[in-house]
Formats: sequence, C-alpha cells, structure tokens
Amino acid sequence: MNPKIAVDGVTKTFDLGRERLVALDDVSLEIADNEFVTVVGPSGCGKSTLLNILAGLEHPSAGRALVDGVPVSGPGPDRGVIFQQYALFPWLTVRGNVEFGLKIAGVPRAERRARAEHFIDVVGLADFADVLPKALSGGMRQRCAIARAYAVNPEILLMDEPFGALDALTRVKLQEQLLSTWDRERRTVLFITHDVDEAVYLADRVVVMASRPGRIHDVVEVDLPHPRTEEVRLSAEFTALRNRVWNSVYHQDTVERTS
Ligand SMILES: Nc1ncnc2c1ncn2[C@@H]1O[C@H](COP(=O)(O)OP(=O)(O)OP(=O)(O)O)[C@@H](O)[C@H]1O
Ligand SMILES: [Mg+2]
Repeated sequence: MNPKIAVDGVTKTFDLGRERLVALDDVSLEIADNEFVTVVGPSGCGKSTLLNILAGLEHPSAGRALVDGVPVSGPGPDRGVIFQQYALFPWLTVRGNVEFGLKIAGVPRAERRARAEHFIDVVGLADFADVLPKALSGGMRQRCAIARAYAVNPEILLMDEPFGALDALTRVKLQEQLLSTWDRERRTVLFITHDVDEAVYLADRVVVMASRPGRIHDVVEVDLPHPRTEEVRLSAEFTALRNRVWNSVYHQDTVERTS
C-alpha cells in the first residue's frame, strides 16, 4: 500500500548571512496510513523543520514531501497541527476557539456545538468553555489548542511537543486520551517529543534523529500491545525499548565519532 506520508530525500538549508545551516540532510521517511510515529532527538536536530515541511509551512530545499502521493504545497484541512506554544484567538472563548475550525469547514451550527462540547470535555475543560484564554493557565490553553485540532478531525495530526509545557499528571492523562482516541478512530500521527518514555508509550515506531546535520539516526519498532495500559507501561518490554531509544539518543555523538 502507498504510504500516507512520504518524505523523499528532503534537505533543508537556511541562509544565515555568510553561513548556510543544513537543518535537514537527505531525510527519507515513510509513514503508513493510521500509523503513529514519534520523533525524538537533541535540540536543533531538525524535528520542527521536518514537521513544518509536512504542515506546508516550510518548503524543502531539495527532495519532496508527499501526502497521499501529492507534494505538499501549503497548509490544508487534511493536516491538523499542534505546536508546543498554544496558539489561541485571545478574543474567542474556549468554545469559540474549538468551534472556529469547524465554522471555517462549514460544519452546521448544532453539530459544531456538539463536537466542540465533546472535545472540550475530553481535554477536561468543560467548566471553562465560556472563558477567554487570558483567564486560563498555560496547560489549560494548550489543552484548548488540542481540543481545537481534534475537533476538526483531520486525517493527519502533526504534533510538535504538544505536551511539553504541561505538568506530569496532565501530560500522562493527555497521552492516555490521545492513545484511546487513536485506538477508537485511527489517524496518521507524527508526534515530536523530548521525552523518551512518551515517545515509546505512544508509538508504533520511534524515529531517532541526530544533529549537525539533521538526519535520521535510528528507527525503533515498538511492538507493544494495545490498549497500552499501565501494565504495559510497567512491563519489562517497555523498559527494554525505552532503554534502547535512550541509548540511541544519548550515545549518538559516540556513534558519530567512531563510525
Ligand atoms: N527559519 C529559520 N531560519 C534559520 N535557521 C532556522 C530556522 N528554523 C530552524 N532553523 C535552524 O535549523 C535547525 C533545526 O531547527 P529545528 O527547530 O527544526 O530543531 P528542533 O529539532 O525542533 O529543536 P528543538 O528540540 O529545540 O525544538 C536549528 O539549528 C535552527 O537554528
Ligand atoms: Mg522543535
């Protein structure tokens, strides 16, 4: 079957005055329909650049990024993007923010309301639906941004450290929520994180990137069963995979020097 997402020999350089920075160097990656792929790697290795190219916010300097076999030329409703920094409309309430994308998509009022209610509830903001973003904590704003992306129901979710700024408890709850939603209604997900536990817990496959130049260093298959219960999280298999990914991230400088 054709991949849902194909990154084909993508190089991305940025001109920094006299210097050229190679943010991505000949990166190739295929993601199957309904696959959940997480990406980990050191700061500056090009994770966000890769995601932004798939979102259509950046363009490759060489190579191609394809969705359903079609080159990405800009943002589109088939791809929902969630950034680490919540991006909410300050003049709209939580409900208004979550309904916004549905309004643009032409979803009728009653359905819009019902879908927004559902996802506001999912992220635990039911008591804050009529509140403006300025009255929310950082974590609550991020949960609102997540509800907004989920509500539009895109085929592909591109998530750039979406839980990075959240407290540990909220983070685990949203990981479980994301996975149980995914177990029910599969989506193709590319999820960037700094957290190796999070990367393994969520993924079918973990892509480990390395920096200078940004490239794919390792790919680890995660064959843990679904649903990923607490038992799975505490299993010896989970720990072994987590250690494998951690070693791959942590020891990549050594590998580079010796190879
Ligand atoms: N618009 C830009 N102009 C110039 N350089 C950029 C631009 N965007 C990214 N870069 C550079 O490209 C490299 C990769 O950046 P990127 O944001 O993709 O890294 P990252 O892996 O997401 O890092 P982090 O984990 O810190 O978010 C960095 O060296 C960064 O400085
Ligand atoms: Mg980044």
